[in-house]
Amino acid sequence: MIRNYETVIPYKTWTGVEAEDKVRVFRMDNGSMTYAMAASEEGFLMHIYYGKALGDDDLTYVLKLNEAPFTPKGFAREKGTFMDSKPFEFPCYGIGDYREPCMMILDDEGMSACDLRFKSFRVEEGKPALKQKGYTCFPATFAEASDCETLVMVMEDDAANLLVELSYTMFKNSNVITRSAKVWNKGYSDVRISRMLSTCVDFDTDQFDMITLNGSWARERVMERAPLHHGKQSVDSMRGESSHQNNPFVALVSHKADETTGEAYGFNLVYSGNFMAQAEVTQHKKTRFVMGINPMDFSWLLRPEEEFQTPEVVMVYSANGIGEMSRTYHDLYRNHLIRGQWKDKKRPVLINNWEATYFNFDTDKIIAIAKQASELGVEMLVLDDGWFGHRDFDNSSLGDWYVYESKVKGGLPHLVEEVNKLGMKFGLWFEPEMVSPDSDLYREHPEWAIQIIGRSMTQSREQYVLDYSNPEVRDYVYSMIRKILDTANVEYIKWDMNRQLTEVGSTSLHRKRQRELWHRYVLGVYDLMNRLTTDYPYLLLENCSGGGARFDPGMLYFSPQIWTSDDTDAIERLKIQYGTSLCYPASCMGAHVSDCPNHTVGRTTPFATRGDVALVGTFGYELDVTKIPQADRDAIPGQIAKFHRFNPLVRTGDQYRIGNLFENPDYDAWMFVAKDKSEALFTFVQVLAKPNYPSKFIKMAGLCAEKKYQIEETGQILSGRTLMEIGLPISVHGDFTSKTLYLKAVEE
Ligand code: DGJ
Repeated sequence: MIRNYETVIPYKTWTGVEAEDKVRVFRMDNGSMTYAMAASEEGFLMHIYYGKALGDDDLTYVLKLNEAPFTPKGFAREKGTFMDSKPFEFPCYGIGDYREPCMMILDDEGMSACDLRFKSFRVEEGKPALKQKGYTCFPATFAEASDCETLVMVMEDDAANLLVELSYTMFKNSNVITRSAKVWNKGYSDVRISRMLSTCVDFDTDQFDMITLNGSWARERVMERAPLHHGKQSVDSMRGESSHQNNPFVALVSHKADETTGEAYGFNLVYSGNFMAQAEVTQHKKTRFVMGINPMDFSWLLRPEEEFQTPEVVMVYSANGIGEMSRTYHDLYRNHLIRGQWKDKKRPVLINNWEATYFNFDTDKIIAIAKQASELGVEMLVLDDGWFGHRDFDNSSLGDWYVYESKVKGGLPHLVEEVNKLGMKFGLWFEPEMVSPDSDLYREHPEWAIQIIGRSMTQSREQYVLDYSNPEVRDYVYSMIRKILDTANVEYIKWDMNRQLTEVGSTSLHRKRQRELWHRYVLGVYDLMNRLTTDYPYLLLENCSGGGARFDPGMLYFSPQIWTSDDTDAIERLKIQYGTSLCYPASCMGAHVSDCPNHTVGRTTPFATRGDVALVGTFGYELDVTKIPQADRDAIPGQIAKFHRFNPLVRTGDQYRIGNLFENPDYDAWMFVAKDKSEALFTFVQVLAKPNYPSKFIKMAGLCAEKKYQIEETGQILSGRTLMEIGLPISVHGDFTSKTLYLKAVEE
């Protein structure tokens, strides 16, 4: 056990990290938020506080509450009670804390307990990158040294010879703390890590509602909110991707928290595979929240000197409601997660042929769509699924990334040239992680599919998943993609992933490392995405997974936009985009105007409404523009002009949710307000029209109370205060109708 208390280094930095003798209190403080923990004399790393900024008090008294002594001496009897009730920063399994642990091992003697004790700490300027040996890239938020500071708490388990570093990065100008953990085998024997989460926060209360984003294909990230109760409440994925079903995002909010008031703690895992997020209300009516890689079916062999790095959790605190929490995430992701040349740019208005043709197209058809679309102002043609191998349906050719000559007559370079001649960019669909049983690739390399030898392989959408833990597989797929990119002017890639993992085994991994496949698969995907975006920095990458099954911060690190859902119905999209906006910015939400009746739900909505809803995403079209009604076609240039005009505001401004369909199904409304409050775009969408109701007054949000705003559509001038306190009467006629208003600050 470590008892190295003599060497106390008093240290004070802008985050106020400081160490005191004996019980060393570590505080991170950015002026509006404080995070505090303490290393006890015994070496336990205890949680003290996370929330609104505190004054300069001695916080050790917090740990001394209760009749039980502050820390048990040695192995005194009361240690059990202590372990099972005190708040810890990174609880371990098997030493008396019966709540959910962050870490569990299987050591060389077959033992599962571990006991981490505080050893030392260091403060690093800025935010070090995360690394896992063997992979080129580990997605995480990044920042300049002047933006943040990182506190690293070094812990050791002397019996198991493990050293763990817990990293806490606090951002200077926003209420963000990121947390991750790294374990290093400093001994001479192998150790298996059977659970290694990224964060734990032991809150002193159970008075929270838990907000989660749940759903299924075509209804992803629908918000659910419920008060916590005794026991464990969790969301997770064991599907090999972050999933349609649960998003790796959870918020714990005070019961009465709404958009503008109450406390909100957001947790979002920067990871695209199996995860778990859990709130546990304990016997003492306190809440332990944990998040990280799903420990189910996880095991990582750490040979001597090897390290394992967890993904990071982005924790956001808001004292001013859920809206502020969301805006903090939006700013963080726009500035410190999304990378590349497209990060801050308006994206080209695209037309995608999926809902227009599905697999039934040829060169002439695509050129006809492109030609008509280019005349209307569309800037990029995206050729979706079906251009490769001999793919006429979803039952073949994945893995054969060469052009289907008889369908794409004249070849891909010819098609791309024709599209470019129209003044349009060209984008292409790939599903690089998959292989069809009916493909040359599978015939040649059946061993490259994820499988358990001796068991039948489950097909889903008639395809298998490639073993991305195997670098040879990644290299081979990449060489095919490169051939396409090096011969045709492809400027955008839609990277799709249309099935989840089963029979998770690898023919290339050692049997002792088979359970690492879940995680190595995800790291392999990141590796290839990193190579692609590094070698072709001009590429605009749009991630997609059967719609929005991988809408997570891990993917955002590579692709500045993600296809939000295959459900393009404007009314269904209201809930999907609302839920998604809880932590992801509008600038990254793939949103298209599609044809009606909508292919997923059969609903017919006005073309204008479809445009207004897609406007608060990346914006584009997904329809056969040569076949839609003339009136709709005529409306496209106007919609595109509206996009060009308002996209900078949507992309860079602050989003304020006004309506809430989960509480009031009649309408939705939102605003995007410029950072300097000089202009704003208000959107209202009515769901079902109701007879004989006077116009609704809708209160605006996010404006400057003191400024006067002119409403462009009516000419009326009102103060921000009046607009926010009384609002404007909004009347629209008909089901599913929408209205937008542009507000501009004026001098009086
Ligand atoms: C699922 C995607 O979400 C769709 O947009 C489309 O690309 C299909 N896959 C193609 O198979």
